[in-house]
Amino acid sequence: MSKLVIEGLRPLCGEINVQGAKNSALPILAASVAARGESVIHNCPRLSDIDVTIKILRYLGCKVTREGNTVTVDSTDIIRDDIPLELMREMRSSIIFLGALISAAGHARVSFPGGCDLGPRPIDIHLKALRKMGITVNEHRGFIDCTINKNIKGCKLALEFPSVGATENIILTAVKAQGRTIITNAAAEPEIIDLCDFLNSCGAKITTGDSGTVIIDGVSTLNGCSHCIIPDRIAAATYMCAGAVCGGDIVLNGGIPSHLSAVIPVFEECGCIIMQEQSKLRVIAPDRLKAPKFIRTMPYPGFPTDAQPPVMALATQCDGTTVFVENIFESRYNHISELIRLGAKIKLEGRVAVVEGNTSLYGTNIHAFDLRGAAALVTAALCAEGKTVIYDTDYLERGYEDFDVVLNSLGASVKKI
Ligand code: EPZ
Repeated sequence: MSKLVIEGLRPLCGEINVQGAKNSALPILAASVAARGESVIHNCPRLSDIDVTIKILRYLGCKVTREGNTVTVDSTDIIRDDIPLELMREMRSSIIFLGALISAAGHARVSFPGGCDLGPRPIDIHLKALRKMGITVNEHRGFIDCTINKNIKGCKLALEFPSVGATENIILTAVKAQGRTIITNAAAEPEIIDLCDFLNSCGAKITTGDSGTVIIDGVSTLNGCSHCIIPDRIAAATYMCAGAVCGGDIVLNGGIPSHLSAVIPVFEECGCIIMQEQSKLRVIAPDRLKAPKFIRTMPYPGFPTDAQPPVMALATQCDGTTVFVENIFESRYNHISELIRLGAKIKLEGRVAVVEGNTSLYGTNIHAFDLRGAAALVTAALCAEGKTVIYDTDYLERGYEDFDVVLNSLGASVKKI
């Protein structure tokens, strides 16, 4: 496992390019197996999660080449419709291959995705929807076996929770079903829209309404296409936190304000000046940060759970107290113990974390436990006095492209060892 050595209290200034969205690239790469021929995916971030997805695509028989941020997938010679345990274990979100394989091969066999540091991560909503669409789903010895008996019939599906992964799996299954599938209370994240745009470019017929409704009219074939991944709103929010805690003035090239509609007001409440210049977002930190009073994570367009950890690190530096309520994941507070080791004053009661602001942080040795928690620790280390060593920072490579290089380009001192 790698570690980062960070010298804190350096002002951040400059312009960075926001990477392509991890949570858009993963489902789109999986979806390419359901499209015949070649798909060319641009602005694909270089991340370890993308590496695992490419490994899975090659295991299935796809030809995959990567040149910088462009990944080309040729799914002509798919030979398998299963994902082995070891590959599922490497990345739990590979459950997204379920719908893509059902569409591509009429059958899919994957192992139950493991839980992770955020909680059990069940897939009951996924499986209930597939069964309602007429797919035979057998769960046996930790494996899920999905078979289409006769043609999949489109149907109405009301999700009990707007699950991102379940929405994606249903869309990927319904694109080649017979007739119309209507999903209500679907996830509406920008990454879902990006997946639908990719599939429509492949010949699918998908429309997304404002109120979390997705309508899919099944088609017989999908053909590979060329697509450019949207910018990563969570990476953008993370760099905004880094700039804000360091009294910085940073420009995010590719930050899309509408994708950050619940995040930007939090930074404005902190006293940051946010300016939009064409496709650039400029964030200027105030001399003294004011605490955002109350942050509750919600499905999009609410405040994104993935931004909660780095924003919590920001909250430790703001005048006042911030109350966080994590409504999406059961235990997404693993970073709190490590922030406290740096000197933060945080009280945790179940899903509620109360962060006392205006705390001086002091560098020490700390450990990362998950991707966004690691981003919180880096954010805190940037405004801690002295040297902080963060262990187990391989997590960062799952979701942030060249995190250390980007921060150093803004004036930080981050050494990856
Ligand atoms: C996606 O995870 C993202 N991952 C997560 O980002 C993100 O935090 C999450 O959506 C919420 O926005 C990818 O897109 C690869 P969910 P996903 O299904 O699809 C419960 C990151 O840091 N649930 O919307 O797994 C579940 O337990 C990652 O980039 C069920 O109960 O999220 C969780 O509490 C972390 N049953 C909540 O819903 C189900 O069948 C949200 O899950 C499915 C989900």
